[in-house]
Amino acid sequence: MNNSIHSRKILIIGSGGREHAIATKLSQSSLVSAVFVCPGNPGMLKNNSGIQIKNLAADDSIGLLNFAIEENIALTIVGPEASLSLGIVDLFVSHNRIIVGPTKAASLLETSKAYAKTVMNKAMVPTAGYSEFFDAESAINSILSSSEEKMVVKCDGLAAGKGVIVCQNKIEALQAVNALMKENLLGTNIDHIIIEEFLEGVEVSAFALCDGETFTFLGTACDHKRLRDGDLGPNTGGMGVYSPASVFSAEDELWVNEKVFAPMLKTMKEFGTPFSGILFAGLMKTNSGYKVLEFNVRFGDPETQVLLPLIKEDLLPWFMAAATGSITSLQKKLSRQNPIKLNLKGVHVVMAAFGYPGTEGVKVRAGDEIRIDQNFRLNQNEFLFYAGVAKSLINDSLVTSGGRVLGITVLNETISKARFDAYDLIQKIQFEGAQFRRDIGSGQS
Ligand code: AMP
Ligand code: GLY
Repeated sequence: MNNSIHSRKILIIGSGGREHAIATKLSQSSLVSAVFVCPGNPGMLKNNSGIQIKNLAADDSIGLLNFAIEENIALTIVGPEASLSLGIVDLFVSHNRIIVGPTKAASLLETSKAYAKTVMNKAMVPTAGYSEFFDAESAINSILSSSEEKMVVKCDGLAAGKGVIVCQNKIEALQAVNALMKENLLGTNIDHIIIEEFLEGVEVSAFALCDGETFTFLGTACDHKRLRDGDLGPNTGGMGVYSPASVFSAEDELWVNEKVFAPMLKTMKEFGTPFSGILFAGLMKTNSGYKVLEFNVRFGDPETQVLLPLIKEDLLPWFMAAATGSITSLQKKLSRQNPIKLNLKGVHVVMAAFGYPGTEGVKVRAGDEIRIDQNFRLNQNEFLFYAGVAKSLINDSLVTSGGRVLGITVLNETISKARFDAYDLIQKIQFEGAQFRRDIGSGQS
């Protein structure tokens, strides 16, 4: 039960590449004695990482709390949004456990698009104009009388990535409303949607680690959400990223801090739901400046798999400060606002299973052996993060278990160098039906 400053045990909740990246980062900390990931995946045990996995599901809040108490876990970090919206942070806090992440009430910023708009409007954060609807007829009338053809239909609740429909014209918008509100697209009819102004521009994800009052800026990334090269094919959880976002200048960082993160935290506090944890702003750089498309209340996946390797220093003190409301005092102690970053850029390429994301009528394939060439070597600044993998039943290799299977991150002086090395490594990994994009970070320097 030694929990002295140099022997902290960490618990990370989740099982994907994002959690593998968080675990890897914290396992390098001299202040950490053990890193557990629940449920994790068997790929996290490779390469003598020292990471341990424990078969407790990410939604088993009580089981996870008991584990944290038994193991005397000093800090817990939550990966998936679903665990947050179940109220895992509220539960841990009520048992005096230190945990990074927002409460159930503050997590509404991601789960309810309408709530996010209300907070943004109060905080005067620039965002797309919108109207809210509780029945299909009013939504349809509004679409028919709109002066714009393009618009975005969003359902208010959690929708497993299917709740945002970008419509190129009114016909598509009418179809989207029917599908969501009348035809059970999401398994049940939705009774609350918003219809939003269509924004054109470059998308940037920006991340801040928050403690309820203040925050530290963690960086930016550009996600590639479509399955296929050239931004074609169905939407996925993300097929690759590069970081930092090339369009994002030092002035942009000041602007986002001042006009997005700071007022959001102030308003969330005023609403009685202070926000601590990771605030992930999905931004669109339009001709008239940045606008927020959406907020997520957790680390992005795959963004985190580049963002964290790019941070040079130990993140444990920053996570601790976020969970204990002491970011300002850490900033004063260190005499700086943000964690130190490497002077490098990063590219992350995802390899997904055949059939992923499962929306094109093909079953997502699982159970294929992952074969890695003998001459595959990871140098410093190169990482292999595992996600949808399982242990083979016949030997000690890994097999695919569906979805996004793994990803390679490479850091280098330029995006083009990082990209070259990332694809060189990807070529040395094979499994049946593997899908990956060949244009992650292309055209970036
Ligand atoms: P999701 O991350 O699943 O909520 O999907 C959101 C995606 O839909 C964003 O990454 C954008 O590409 C797109 N999107 C959302 N809102 C808008 C908007 N107002 N205008 C244009 N595209 C949007
Ligand atoms: N990469 C987008 C997400 O994590 O939602």
